[in-house]
Order: sequence, then structure tokens, then C-alpha cells
Amino acid sequence: MAFIEARDLVKTYTPKGAPVVRALDGLDLDVAQGTVTALLGPNGAGKTTTVKVLTTLIRPDSGTAVIDGVDVMRDPDRVRRMIGASGQYAAVDENLTGFENLMMVGKLYHLGSKVARQRATELIELFDLVDAANRPVKGFSGGMRRRIDLAGALVINPPVLFLDEPTTGLDPRSRLALWDIIESLVSGGTTVLLTTQYLEEADRLADAISVIDNGRVIAKGTADELKASVGGQRVAVTLVTESDARALTDIMSRFGSGDPVEGGGGRTFVVPVDNGPVALSAIVGAAAEQGIALHDAGMRRPTLDDVFLQLTGHTAEQADEAEGTAA
Ligand SMILES: Nc1ncnc2c1ncn2[C@@H]1O[C@H](COP(=O)(O)OP(=O)(O)OP(=O)(O)O)[C@@H](O)[C@H]1O
Ligand SMILES: [Mg+2]
Repeated sequence: MAFIEARDLVKTYTPKGAPVVRALDGLDLDVAQGTVTALLGPNGAGKTTTVKVLTTLIRPDSGTAVIDGVDVMRDPDRVRRMIGASGQYAAVDENLTGFENLMMVGKLYHLGSKVARQRATELIELFDLVDAANRPVKGFSGGMRRRIDLAGALVINPPVLFLDEPTTGLDPRSRLALWDIIESLVSGGTTVLLTTQYLEEADRLADAISVIDNGRVIAKGTADELKASVGGQRVAVTLVTESDARALTDIMSRFGSGDPVEGGGGRTFVVPVDNGPVALSAIVGAAAEQGIALHDAGMRRPTLDDVFLQLTGHTAEQADEAEGTAA
């Protein structure tokens, strides 16, 4: 049995006057001890709901979940003692300072005040919050809140850590620092389940990735396995001027093995090909013949973005936009 094992989790919500939402629709998950598993999915996929079930904040309608042999639904108190969690439902006291918040978590877990103080001091330094430690949280920026919430999850050094979109809202420097912290925790034996919408983050951190959409896992494996499942080579070409898009995609259709798709920014197009070097030189040659100016052209291995696109028919970013317009 896996260290964390969830089977056939179903969770429905019935908002007033609206159709039933199946937030989890038969979700299975396995996390091996001492590894990082990423739940990768767009807005509304069911990531937070999964974390809430596993951290005992909500009960599923049906299904089972076990962490290190302990049944999550039957024995929630024991589960709570072995996990740390940080997430989109941040539990900090606005009126306390950063330091006091961490002390409070220590007390909650019955650390002696000396140990609690020592731990809070270490975490304040680790998360680069020294300047903010003695200010009330209500004056914190979004990124500072994120970091104090993460620090709170680490107070008791739990063997299992749930991180719901840990780096959303962090600047690039804080994101890199957090990745380092997660990596060092895992090399010390901590088991981590993190959720992310960032393919790059899953690629960098996760030993195993479960791609979820609409409350179920639609693919799983290592980043390399997922990329290999998309298969094949691609040619990516970036135009100097967007108005050449039509002429370029005509050329790419001719030499590609599938349809070209826009790869972001309106000037980059990507097409699957059978033979990378041959297709690349043919496309570049035909573009030159027609006087189409290229900014860049090259072969590309499939990325996790390509995996996501292939599996769901939309990119993670497009799912974001759809959610944004619906809201
Ligand atoms: N309390 C609730 N009441 C009604 N619907 C809910 C509730 N919580 C979640 N949902 C719905 O369940 C689905 C899954 O939501 P969830 O928060 O788990 O997604 P997510 O993957 O965490 O998304 P995000 O990336 O936006 O955080 C969504 O359709 C959401 O609208
Ligand atoms: Mg969420």
C-alpha cells in the first residue's frame, strides 16, 4: 500500500439554485513515502478539494483515504497530528505578528515555549521574514502572508506535508527559495503532496505527477513519462510580424505531421513533425522563399504544456481564462 493512498473519492457540492458540482469524481491517488507528488490541474480541477479531504477539513461523499496506515475518515485526530498543511484557506491570526502566529502554532501542538520560540525564530529566518516578524499580519503583503502560512505548516516538522499552490503569488526569488526548502525537506525524509497549476513547478519538483481535470486523474507518471506519452518531435517557429501567421501556418501544415497550433504570444507556432531536422529545414526554407521574416526557429521536445494540451484539449492558461470570464 502506498504511503498516502486515496481510492475513488467523490465529493459533490449542491449550491443553492445551481446544478450539483462533482468536485471529485472518482479520484485515485498514490504518494510514495519520502517523495514529492504534484497534483497538476487547471482552476476548478479539484486540487483544493482533494487536499481538504486528505487533511480532514471536509469529508468526501464516498471513497477511502489512508495516510501511513491511518484511515483519514475514521481517525482524523491521528492524521492531524502527523501532517502539516498550507493552502488557499490560510489560517493566520491577522492581529498577531508573524512571530506570534508561529508561536501560536507551536502551542497548539504542545511544544514547550522554549522549543516553540526556537522553531519560530528558525522559520522566520528560513522564510526571509526577519523584518516583518514583529509586525501584525494584517499589514503583510500577499507574498509575505504566503510565506508565514508556509512557515506555520513546518512548525512541528511533520512527516507529511500538504501544500496547496505553495508558490502562487510569490515573486520569482521567493519561489526559487521555496523550491529549495521543499527539496531539502524531502531529502530529510518528508513526504510532500503539492498542488500546482504551473507545469514548470511540477517538472522541477515532483517525483510523480498526477494530472487532474474535472475531479479525476487523467494521466500520471514522472514528468519524463508524461512528455514521452505525447511523443514525437515538434518544430516551433516565431515570426517577426504577426501578420505573417497565415502564410506560416500554411507552410507548417505542409511539412508537419499534424495541425500547427499557436504556442503563445500570437507569433509562435508549433507543429508535430515526423523528422525534426528535415521538417525544420523545409519550413525555414519555404519561409525564406516567401520572404517571411523569422525571429526564431527550432526543434522542441514536448513540454508538460504539450501534455496538458493533448490530454485536456486546452492549456492550463486557457482554462484559467475560461474560469475568469465565467466568474
Ligand atoms: N464550497 C463549495 N461550494 C460549491 N462548489 C464548490 C465548493 N468548493 C469547491 N467547489 C467547486 O468544486 C470544483 C473543484 O474546486 P477546487 O477548489 O477543488 O478546485 P481547484 O483545482 O483547487 O481550483 P483552483 O486552481 O482555482 O484553486 C470547482 O468547480 C468549484 O467551483
Ligand atoms: Mg484550489
